[in-house]
This record gives sequence, C-alpha cells and structure tokens, in this order.
Amino acid sequence: MALLFAQAFAKINPVLEVLGKRPDGYHELSLLFQTIGLYDVLSFEKKGGGIELVISSAPEGLAPDDSNLVLKAAKLFFKNLPPGSGGVKISLTKNIPLAAGLGGGSSDAAATLLGLDDLFQTGWGLEGLQPLAASLGSDVPFFLRGGTALGRGRGEIITPLPPLPEMNLVLVKPKEGLSTPAVFQSGKARLTSGEPTKQFLGLAKEGKLAYLAGSLYNGLEPAAFFLMPQVENIKAHLLEAGAAGALVSGSGPTVFGLAPSPARAEAIARKMEGQGWNVWVTKTVTAESVKN
Ligand code: C5P
Repeated sequence: MALLFAQAFAKINPVLEVLGKRPDGYHELSLLFQTIGLYDVLSFEKKGGGIELVISSAPEGLAPDDSNLVLKAAKLFFKNLPPGSGGVKISLTKNIPLAAGLGGGSSDAAATLLGLDDLFQTGWGLEGLQPLAASLGSDVPFFLRGGTALGRGRGEIITPLPPLPEMNLVLVKPKEGLSTPAVFQSGKARLTSGEPTKQFLGLAKEGKLAYLAGSLYNGLEPAAFFLMPQVENIKAHLLEAGAAGALVSGSGPTVFGLAPSPARAEAIARKMEGQGWNVWVTKTVTAESVKN
C-alpha cells in the first residue's frame, strides 16, 4: 500500500482533575477523554527518503516547522526504523482549531504514528507505539485508540472505558487560543483528589443527560477564566441558550455545551453565533467509529 488516509479526531474532557504538582514539573491528573466528531485529515505517501509535510487550509500559527507535532511524530518514527527505510510525504488538512483544548495537535501526532506504522508494516501496534506517543505529549497516547478513556499520571496512562451515552455538543471558542503550559502554571488550578471522576463515572452508568451535565468537572477551568475572562462569559451564554451543562475542555479556551438532541444543539449554536466566537455542532463518537 503506497498511499494511506487517516482521520484524526478531536476530544473533550468531561472530567479533568488536577491532583497535585509533581517533582518533574508536570501535574498529576485524573481525567476522562472522549472523542468527538471534529477531525483533521492526513494522508501518507511513501517516498525514497526524507520527511515532507504539506498543510492545506493552514490556520494562522501552524507551520510545517520543528514545533509541528506531525513532523515530530514522523521524525521519532523513522528514528526507530533501520537507516535507509525510506521517507514519507504527509498531507494535513486542518479542521480542529489550534490551542483550543481539543487535542488537535496530539491527535495528528497519534494518527501519524498509526499511519506510518501501517504504511511501513512495522508490526509495533498500539503497545509498541505507546511509549513513542507518550514522549510526544501527555495526551497523545489517548488518541492511539480514542473513544472513551480514563487518563492517569500526567494523562498518558490510559485505561479504555465502555462508551458513554452519545452526547450532542455545541463547541464555542474565542478567536484567540490558550497555551497549555500557561494554564497549568497560572497558579489558579483547583486541586481535587479523585471524587469528581468517581462521581461522573458512577452517574454515567444511569445514562441520563441531566446526571452527566451535573457532574462535568474541570479543575483547570478557574485558570482558563482567569487568563481569558470571556471564557466564563461563553459558558454562561451556553447555559442561558439552553445547554444542559457546559464546561471548558482541557486547558481551554473551547467550552462545550451538552444538548438534549441534535436539533437543540443547532438551536443553541444559532444563539451563540454573531458574537465573534467560533461555533461548531458535533457529537461524541465511540472508539469503534474512529478506527480508520
Ligand atoms: O505533555 P505536553 O507536552 O502536552 O504538556 C505541555 C505542558 O503542559 C507541559 O510542559 C506542562 O507545562 C503542562 N502540563 C502539566 N501537567 C500535565 C500535562 C501538561 O503541567 N499533566
């Protein structure tokens, strides 16, 4: 197979707990990851040597340079192959916004590892790719499998979970992004010790939207509000517009709102438009449906 296509899905975090600060500078987390139906598209084509990245519809701030996680992932992959194994041309079509708390860069990195693993028939599989993924970023390992999962450690220790009930979502993002290190280092994160994760998972079994909505939790939310006050405003607007619950995703600044139906999600989205924010309507997707 000489050409391969992949979809790299975004995520939200229905629960993100900061348990404490670690000696290595990272924060110990307990968090839930959930894949959503917003995705980038990548293609991989073998070539004689070298790594080439072409980005179409590149948003401002995304360049095919050394900071790009797709290139970092590809370089790391080839470092682990025997010299002279060949090269690759990668094309990336970006739909997931940057610095949004939706994991776009991490998902692209995981899709790159999986795509190259397939193209070069290494046989490493998920187990073999896990340490490479973890070295690229704390939430890259989640994206190797996607779906619903619990994350521990700095977020890289993944336990797959049964699918949550499907959730209709409205995503709202201010034009500007937020830097993940800035959010963690703001001194405004709220510390908890595992209760919100337990509570959410317990109530998720009941399958009722109101329960899920009531147990959304993000310890980084106060930090995102502090660094970008309009994020708090977006959350309030989503709830006013009829969302059953709303929460900052990851380190923000995207806020997701839960809607009882696709039609209600559309109605909420229309109310959120016209304020200079980016708005998307989507829903959660399972690990089964993200398999390429
Ligand atoms: O792992 P990743 O490179 O995605 O993390 C980016 C930054 O976010 C880290 O350098 C750190 O400042 C912060 N972070 C953290 N604790 C985590 C994950 C990320 O403090 N568990």
